[in-house]
Amino acid sequence: METHKQLTIGLFGFGTVGEGLYKVLQQTPSLKATIKKVCIRNPDKKRNAPESLFTTDKNELLGDPEINVIVEVIDDADAAFAIVTTALQNGKEVVSASKKMLAEHLPALLELQKRTEQSLLYEASACASIPVIRNLEEYYDNDLLHSIRAVVNGSTNFILTKMFEEGLDFRDALLLAQQLGFAESNPKLDVEGYDAVNKWTLLLAHAYGIVKHPDDLLFNGIQNIQASDAYVARAKNQQIKLVAQAKKLQNGKVTAFVLPQFVKHDEHLAFVKNEYNGVVIESGFADKQFFYGKGAGSFPTASAVLSDIAALRYHYRYEYKKLYHHTPHELSEDVYLRVYVSFDDLALIPRERFEWIEEWHAQEERKYLVGVIAFSELKNNNWWRENNTSLILTPDPVIEDVEIRKLKKRSLVLAGLV
Ligand SMILES: NC(=O)c1ccc[n+]([C@@H]2O[C@H](COP(=O)([O-])OP(=O)(O)OC[C@H]3O[C@@H](n4cnc5c(N)ncnc54)[C@H](OP(=O)(O)O)[C@@H]3O)[C@@H](O)[C@H]2O)c1
Repeated sequence: METHKQLTIGLFGFGTVGEGLYKVLQQTPSLKATIKKVCIRNPDKKRNAPESLFTTDKNELLGDPEINVIVEVIDDADAAFAIVTTALQNGKEVVSASKKMLAEHLPALLELQKRTEQSLLYEASACASIPVIRNLEEYYDNDLLHSIRAVVNGSTNFILTKMFEEGLDFRDALLLAQQLGFAESNPKLDVEGYDAVNKWTLLLAHAYGIVKHPDDLLFNGIQNIQASDAYVARAKNQQIKLVAQAKKLQNGKVTAFVLPQFVKHDEHLAFVKNEYNGVVIESGFADKQFFYGKGAGSFPTASAVLSDIAALRYHYRYEYKKLYHHTPHELSEDVYLRVYVSFDDLALIPRERFEWIEEWHAQEERKYLVGVIAFSELKNNNWWRENNTSLILTPDPVIEDVEIRKLKKRSLVLAGLV
């Protein structure tokens, strides 16, 4: 029987995740994995590890034939891409947590994995401690995966929880998230939805075989959410979450987006608070399944990196089954979304572009409406992100049978109600 591979690791990055991994590995001697060298950026920083372990010369790791695994957990996406591609080309297996780099370069990294036949694992890059990539890859067959809804960004979820449950203002909640190691070094990545859409890009590839650049997906963050939106949510016994969603349509295509959404209090995702992440998978015969765990932080993220390192002992590789072994799904923008929009100035809201408007609250201090709008209208325009406008999806927002709905609209028009 083949013995497990001895793993000699070259580690890039000794920040929240890198140092966490160093400590976690010290507590798991059975893994037979040792860190030979750590490459960092700043040689003058004080480190909680022997000085001899550190270097600023990446080639000391990438050119060392004894190092057979590169673990890349740095916060510079361009440098990370250069490290990961060189490592694969040099015949090393790679574990990465850099979702931005992975999402932006997925097609090139797919090609490189094929060409080099080396493994590139990145479980920590989406939902940190929750083993969602490997589950989507191994467990859920293409035909059975009806939908996935998820809270994938621990930092925004932490901020929303602190704002709406403990009354912290946005800045204080963000600062706390950063102090606790839940936020990206650049907070814009979290707050404006970039981090979430990067993760969603990766999960779409493993769930449905859809490979897209994050810029091609419809997304927004929580930067425009107002206290008055939270008030409306509470009045409806709902919460606001940044939800990533993908849904198989009746025509076999898939619609996907990352947007703030009202979540009913008894839904699984309403249970996901603070830095936790949650994923609800709806599949053919099993109905709903809920994955829950810490989506950020030193040890939770390091635990996913550790699990990838452990999988390398068995030569595990992603097969990208939905992409290579099935007919990959196509992304569709041909749907409609039911949205809540709050705003300061009605003149800046193009009411005529809604299919219909179901609720209209003009008397409130901050006005809002609920209406149905084409996905493509949001994808191709920016009015809903600008001028202090806040757009939040209603629960169950995807509408496919728009023709029936149009009839409803026409009947309302005929009745003189709109
Ligand atoms: N924090 C989390 O909860 C979490 C969760 C999931 C995924 N991730 C991802 O994991 C990665 C690391 O996150 P982090 O929170 O650990 O970041 P961090 O605390 O800011 O640490 C970044 C580390 O990268 C090093 N570094 C930056 N550029 C480098 C380069 N060119 N060469 C070598 N080292 C370099 C820094 O070196 P110095 O120490 O010298 O500055 C630092 O040690 C990011 O891609 C992030 O998106 C983080």
